[in-house]
Amino acid sequence: MLKISLVLFSLIITLSFFGCNAKPGSKNVFELDNGWKFKEGDNLNYAKPEYDDSEWKEINVGNRWENQGYDKLDGFAWYRIKIVIPSSLKNNAEQKDSLIFNFGKINDFDQFFFNGELIGANSEKVKPGTKVTDSYKNLDHSAWNVDRRYSIPSDNNLIKWDKENVIAIRVFDLGLSGGLYSGELSLSMPQLNDYLEININKNNFNITGKMFGKTILISNRSGAYKIVGNLEIKIENNIDETEIFKDKFSFFLAPEEKKEIKFRFNKTNESTTIQYKLAFDDNSKIQITEGVPYILTPPVKAEPQINGALIYGERPGKPFLYRIAATGKRPMSYKADNLPKDLYLDGKTGIIKGKVKNTGKYDVTLTVENEFGVDTKLLEIVIGDKLSLTPPMGWNSWNCWGLSVSQEKIYDAAKAFVDKGLADHGWTYINIDDGWEIFGESDEPKRSPNGEILTNKKFPDMKKLGNDIHALGLKFGIYSSPGTLTCGGYTASYKHEYQDARTFAKWGIDYLKYDLCSYRKLMNDQNSVKELISPYQLMNKALRSIDRDIVYYICEYGNGKVWEWGESVGGNLWRTTGDIWDDWDRMYEIGFGQVESAKYAGPGHWNDPDMLVIGWIGWGPNLHQTKLTPDEQYTHVSLWSLLSAPLLLGNDLTKLDDFTLNLITNDEIIAINQDKLGKQATPIIKKEGIEVWKKELSDRNIAIGIFNVSKDNKSYKLDLKKLGLHKAVTLRDVWRQENLGEFSEFNTKIPSHGVRLLKILLN
Ligand code: GAL
Repeated sequence: MLKISLVLFSLIITLSFFGCNAKPGSKNVFELDNGWKFKEGDNLNYAKPEYDDSEWKEINVGNRWENQGYDKLDGFAWYRIKIVIPSSLKNNAEQKDSLIFNFGKINDFDQFFFNGELIGANSEKVKPGTKVTDSYKNLDHSAWNVDRRYSIPSDNNLIKWDKENVIAIRVFDLGLSGGLYSGELSLSMPQLNDYLEININKNNFNITGKMFGKTILISNRSGAYKIVGNLEIKIENNIDETEIFKDKFSFFLAPEEKKEIKFRFNKTNESTTIQYKLAFDDNSKIQITEGVPYILTPPVKAEPQINGALIYGERPGKPFLYRIAATGKRPMSYKADNLPKDLYLDGKTGIIKGKVKNTGKYDVTLTVENEFGVDTKLLEIVIGDKLSLTPPMGWNSWNCWGLSVSQEKIYDAAKAFVDKGLADHGWTYINIDDGWEIFGESDEPKRSPNGEILTNKKFPDMKKLGNDIHALGLKFGIYSSPGTLTCGGYTASYKHEYQDARTFAKWGIDYLKYDLCSYRKLMNDQNSVKELISPYQLMNKALRSIDRDIVYYICEYGNGKVWEWGESVGGNLWRTTGDIWDDWDRMYEIGFGQVESAKYAGPGHWNDPDMLVIGWIGWGPNLHQTKLTPDEQYTHVSLWSLLSAPLLLGNDLTKLDDFTLNLITNDEIIAINQDKLGKQATPIIKKEGIEVWKKELSDRNIAIGIFNVSKDNKSYKLDLKKLGLHKAVTLRDVWRQENLGEFSEFNTKIPSHGVRLLKILLN
């Protein structure tokens, strides 16, 4: 029986089941943060409670094993802990039916054994008595990002109340970070709210006219208890603090019942937050907040407009490919005056091709025209030694498809660049990440008899893929490692560097991500800069020996201060950090940490704080909407633009919503990133949760990002005198693309984790 009285809410009962967004808040908790033991390798006897682990070393959890003396360890390892589970845990609990184990996140796969019995793998339960195999290593989909949570019924005889019990976790690490690396570990009895799954369908809004629609799903996972409580929903504008919507209703969920809740509210064009407060009959509570997407980028105009980088470099005698990026209603015609000899423009597509023999600098006048008008801009073509005169802009398969990538998915992304108009804003590279090679442990040959690297079945024709991507005027990137295997355990380039470079050239590759991975095992000293440099030097020589320009991306996570030597080994860009994921703390740590390396960025050599985590991502076949709020996404894109960071999208481009499109099609934001001066922004003020970052631009204007990195919305006064500006100056709101007027100090309100991106117009 439903006890819900709500005018604005319509409830639909559904049988579908989604993942949980809510964090349980159990008070009856037994921490498992200390006392773990560790052993490299694999032996199923380690699962047995009677196994003697007294010789095993101690290990910390919540920290990858590489940080604890196991820096070369990939593959199997075991964790064990012995615990006395007090019966008081059960006696004090309101719901007494099961024991819940939280192990945080584990890199990459795990099997959980309790007193010798396999309970589950990668957070999924297995049937009692299931035979232990290795099938939990799903090589297409790492489970590194999954919170491990298992439960055991409290009447299961496996549990020895008030006596010692043994937890054993068998871990398999594909490469890079390994082990129980993040989160709080605990053992608890459930509260009512532990049985409630609430899926707010994060970032998923249905926009019709002036209204936003939202559907959330609540489900009772318990087969025995009913859940009674109430839900309050409050929506507030973070800038003027007005309440946009508020309602409260009570709910009753029978065992295993699920309900959909729908509500609608007025569309917003400023930072806005929804608060969901759930209170249950046993006094437990859940609170979740969600940001509402708001669009700042003005719609694309019908008049023609040339976008993207206005300087472009290639080497003499190498195939040249450049697509003029221009928005505006089609059909559109393109003209390029003063093109170097042997370059040809297709006047219908705007694609320039050819091969320039000699070095030189050419000022080419680009003109695009349609029924609404004409736009003209100067493009500098520099035929010399440098590639990537502005940071590369494109897409890479890793953050969405992980190891489940395929030729079809790559081509879909390329098509989307053109069909959804992204190429018209300057998005160019379509890059395959790990997972195109033959898997290292497979019985298939990894290379042909003459040593040429082979692709796996998911990539039937690499040359065709290259041709198809080039036909769209886009560029084609690939991935390998200097080691024997890639990070995902696939075949890599060790001892085949020259041959692989030639194969890449044959396939039409324009960009190589060269990822350290298993090469670490071949090094004697992980911190030796000399040892780090050598494989990158070797591949650089191989790339320079072929008949094609290949942008060279050094991916070794910032080891040995790569920014200090990356350019000397031919790197056009290099990763300065470990991997990013869609979490504010991680994005903050990486993005706002880009200070030391700043002075090493410039035309042809860029610091890379890793790819963008916006839109639908997931590192495997199952994607989710980014967990960053809309404000955090504005911060992410604004900061990466200011940092002159390579802009590599990592989302499923076949699923682009209006909000994500607004983030990646703002030509003034892109112009800051692609500015030909190539200066990386640096922080000039850091105070009380506000960070102000400044980037000088080639036209003498200055881009300023005012970031609120604190948990609260904040008012801020930017005193322009502190920037050395003693007269009033014109400020421009870059996201909204409008001038704000003249200021000598600027007052603004910035939502928590949000940004105000300004341009100071001095020119
Ligand atoms: C990591 C790298 C990721 C991705 C992955 C593929 O080392 O940082 O960006 O390329 O390997 O296995």
